[in-house]
Amino acid sequence: MRTDSGQIFRLEDYRESDYLIPEVELTFLLDPQETLVRARLIVERRENVAAVTALELDGDGLNLSSLAIDGTPATGTAFEATPDRLIIARPPSAKRFTLDIETRLQPSRNKALMGLYVSSDVFCTQCEAEGFRRITYFLDRPDILSVYTVRIEADKKAAPLLLSNGNPVESGKLDGGRHFAVWHDPHPKPSYLFALVAGDLGVVSDSFTTASGRKVALGVYVEHGNETRAAYAMDALKRSMRWDEERFGREYDLDVFNLVAVSDFNMGAMENKGLNIFNDKYVLADADTATDLDFANIEAIIGHEYFHNWTGNRITCRDWFQLCLKEGLTVFRDHEFSADQRSRPVKRIAEVRGLRAHQFPEDQGPLAHPVRPRRYREINNFYTATVYEKGSEVVRMIRTILGEDAFRAGMDLYFERHDGQAVTIEDFIKAFEDASDRDLAQFALWYHQAGTPHVAISSRYDAGEKSFTIEIEQSVPPTPSESRKRLMHIPLAFGLVGADGQDMAFDAVEGAVVEDGVIHVRKRHHSVRFTGVPARPVLSINRGFSAPITLSGETSTDDRLFLARHDSDPFSRWQSLNTLFTEALLSATRTVRGGDEPLFASELVGAAVSLAANDALEPAFRALALTLPGEPDVAREIGANIDPDAIHTARIALLKAIAREGRATFDALYAGLHDNAPFMPDAAGAGRRALRNVLLEYLALADENPAPAKRQFDAADNMTDRAAALTVLANHFGETQEARAALSAFEARYADDPLVLDKWFQIQASVPAPETVALMRSLMEHPHFSITNPNRVRALIGTFAMGNQRAFHSADGSGYRLVADTVLALEAHNPQVAARLATAFRSWRSLETGRRDEARRVLSDIAKHENLSRDLADIVERTLA
Ligand code: PHE
Ligand code: ZN
Repeated sequence: MRTDSGQIFRLEDYRESDYLIPEVELTFLLDPQETLVRARLIVERRENVAAVTALELDGDGLNLSSLAIDGTPATGTAFEATPDRLIIARPPSAKRFTLDIETRLQPSRNKALMGLYVSSDVFCTQCEAEGFRRITYFLDRPDILSVYTVRIEADKKAAPLLLSNGNPVESGKLDGGRHFAVWHDPHPKPSYLFALVAGDLGVVSDSFTTASGRKVALGVYVEHGNETRAAYAMDALKRSMRWDEERFGREYDLDVFNLVAVSDFNMGAMENKGLNIFNDKYVLADADTATDLDFANIEAIIGHEYFHNWTGNRITCRDWFQLCLKEGLTVFRDHEFSADQRSRPVKRIAEVRGLRAHQFPEDQGPLAHPVRPRRYREINNFYTATVYEKGSEVVRMIRTILGEDAFRAGMDLYFERHDGQAVTIEDFIKAFEDASDRDLAQFALWYHQAGTPHVAISSRYDAGEKSFTIEIEQSVPPTPSESRKRLMHIPLAFGLVGADGQDMAFDAVEGAVVEDGVIHVRKRHHSVRFTGVPARPVLSINRGFSAPITLSGETSTDDRLFLARHDSDPFSRWQSLNTLFTEALLSATRTVRGGDEPLFASELVGAAVSLAANDALEPAFRALALTLPGEPDVAREIGANIDPDAIHTARIALLKAIAREGRATFDALYAGLHDNAPFMPDAAGAGRRALRNVLLEYLALADENPAPAKRQFDAADNMTDRAAALTVLANHFGETQEARAALSAFEARYADDPLVLDKWFQIQASVPAPETVALMRSLMEHPHFSITNPNRVRALIGTFAMGNQRAFHSADGSGYRLVADTVLALEAHNPQVAARLATAFRSWRSLETGRRDEARRVLSDIAKHENLSRDLADIVERTLA
């Protein structure tokens, strides 16, 4: 165990290293039990460092075999090596010297999946953020950029494929059935982008010719037999490469681009230079095994990792506090890519739902932190929705404020100025200021201040004066260690919607800067007065979710229904209906807690039904409009003293009310949406399936009959329809023979495909019933469950803890204990995944007292364990603080 597990790293302590490592030569003698790593580092003292200072290299659990300095074996007092450090107190005084370091690793015993490990007999690496130090001693920080040459030696039969970053330069046979390959990456890169893969894999090959005519060889590597399931990923890769040229003027810069799917991976994927490594969940897809959501995720993540080549790799982070520099920006880029490939409004609604579901609770709870944090104890715990998703929203707001052209000019300047550098958020913002001549100082608070800003709105129309006035008040709630907040620059896109649904013109505006349909809120309070407004408008505000805030105001139900029908901004149409549903669920939850049966306004239920039938709208949009807010959405709005059972009961009641009212309409729509053509994973087809599957749940509930779902399950020719039908059966008809039969049919059909069986785990783990806790204990005994495989853990336990509010928060605390037991079991071999699972407890303080006490007890029990990993201790202590 580390001795420094309580140490806090602070942004203000950043200091350049005295030494650089311009060149690295690595040799790997691969063996699953014992691998020898030889690292030759060319070390250089920085120009401005006068005295010879100690050289301290990072390690993590390393075992040093030998060390030579400038070719001479080092002995005795020349150095000091521990598993976590290699200190050379008096390095040579020459400006440049060489270190030869030999370490021994045990890849097959590495279950933390950081550094070099073995997954299904394939050697692979994961070095972000601090995994390289588990391979060799190094200045393992992102501002140390080196040119790498990598030689890999391995048994030829076990590992015919030998890959690393950059371009291949040499390969050949060795004695004893072994062989080797040498790779050279000419682009200086930080150690976290190093990668190696060696094993026996199948490949899909293709090529891409860049805008300037350079031909790039592309390879997607998967387990033998899975090649056909990699075709979509290859296609998405080529589309990503073209898109980055067209939208951002960014070309690829090596002769090869390889992408490997592995089955044990802590995260989604990793952007290693020229050698992206993926969780196989985000590569493998075909009609029979992947849902439309899987296809969309694959496209987005392939794009994301590819786009990192410029935003992350060519220009990287100075230190890990700047993580959002690459992640927020690259998420923004992948969002734009998906929006261009699919439906922009549908994509935007999905993004906002995701942000509210994952980032808002983080920002509103004990783990809140700025998009650019100022301190951390374990950087692994900062790969968060705030850094990624809010980070993307912040970039999006820069575009909203600057406009498309100035935004692009800022991006171009950023690439031109900083290519080859490791930079900060300040550098990023400066590029936009310089390109646009704007002052973004107040705006920059979005990076520095945690918490979701709140904007309160009220408005009035003066018929005599023909003026319309909006009162706007901003506030930012306190967050841990930031009790006083400064005023933010909040860009609110808006429209004054007239009776015909068109935006109304106005003569003049005072009280705030208003440009291109955006009100720039910069003060605590603005009274924004529009003159020359001929009739009372309906205010549409925060269109397109232009700012990631919460809003309150006294908009009437009639106005919301009007916007749901007529707003020219599709996001706002969706939002208006969604807000009405949320308000209805809040009041229904109060009714249920009062012991009564909830009732719902017929105009709301009617609006949902007529929206479903509105052919002028794309099916994917209608599917989203008909999807009720989730139980956690309602919980978030309630905010305190939450009773998950009451929310569940209220939501089912609204589902049933809509189902009964819409029965005939939904029946006809459902039948009409059926498609006899073979499955295509395109956005239009996915939209039709999405609508049909939303309707299926309503149809099954209308008659409280599993038959429609059973029929769809049996007839399905694709995973989207099959999984949707199984979900309806499991969620609403779990006790029936139909549900049991479908679950076992699914299990039998995919018994040999762990990735697909994850869906079976997931569907059962999300059944919102108290009995799910007991079922979970038995599913964990299933032969295909494995505590060391992160995908299995996420599918079963992650889904239960994060996607099943009712069962996780069982009043007797049994759900909490189940998750806590798993966290502790994971902790022993994979602290990173354990810590992430533990964040499921983050909203514990907002529960009603009984559950709050149970949750606190369980959390304190975890905290009491001795020798907790730094990852888990950090999360648990902050959650309890
Ligand atoms: N950098 C990866 C991404 O966002 C995420 C990641 C972080 C993967 C840490 C592995 C480990 O694309
Ligand atoms: Zn990323």
